[in-house]
Amino acid sequence: GRESKLQLVHRHIRAFPDFPKKGILFRDICPILKDPAALTAVIDLFEEHVRKNHQHVELIIGLDARGFLFGPLLAQRLGVGFVLIRKKGKLPGSTVSVAYDLEYGKAEAEIQEDAVAPGQKVLLIDDLLATGGTLYAACELMKKQQAEVLGCMVVIELKELKGIDKLKPHSVFSLVQY
Ligand code: PRP
Ligand code: ADE
Repeated sequence: GRESKLQLVHRHIRAFPDFPKKGILFRDICPILKDPAALTAVIDLFEEHVRKNHQHVELIIGLDARGFLFGPLLAQRLGVGFVLIRKKGKLPGSTVSVAYDLEYGKAEAEIQEDAVAPGQKVLLIDDLLATGGTLYAACELMKKQQAEVLGCMVVIELKELKGIDKLKPHSVFSLVQY
């Protein structure tokens, strides 16, 4: 059931103090990927959420780099396409970009100009929500592309950083909260 899947996911997240900088408690999802049952549980839980709340989704948009680990699996389950938002300078052709701050640094997010059509219904996916800087930048890119953001999905939410507030009015669905 849902509870046992959530417990399985929870048991496959590790914490590393002072990585990548002093004062950051890094939540590591690598054990999830190493365990097929835990990875299946993550995708099952995301799929259930989407089928219940966002039946009309047309594209899953994954964030560089750890959103790429879960996004394509979910998109394939749902029978919809997957699109990448990458760190600047990695995508060929015409692109749009947005600069942002994250819990431990700065970056620039970029998408191919023709990746999403105006009015398309999309869901954003990443491994973790911290300050929300990354997902906020992704929402800005979606606005530039005139996409309709149905919501955001993450494996982990770090509640004390209040990323949810930054992303309003968009909803954030998470599996595990700290
Ligand atoms: C991490 C994480 C999220 C983001 C969350 O990625 O995977 O994308 O930070 O932080 P925020 O909510 O404060 O923006 P990172 O930029 O470290 O890149 P990586 O996926 O390449 O490791
Ligand atoms: N991205 C931003 N903050 C993070 C954290 N504490 N652990 C893992 N990834 C992160």
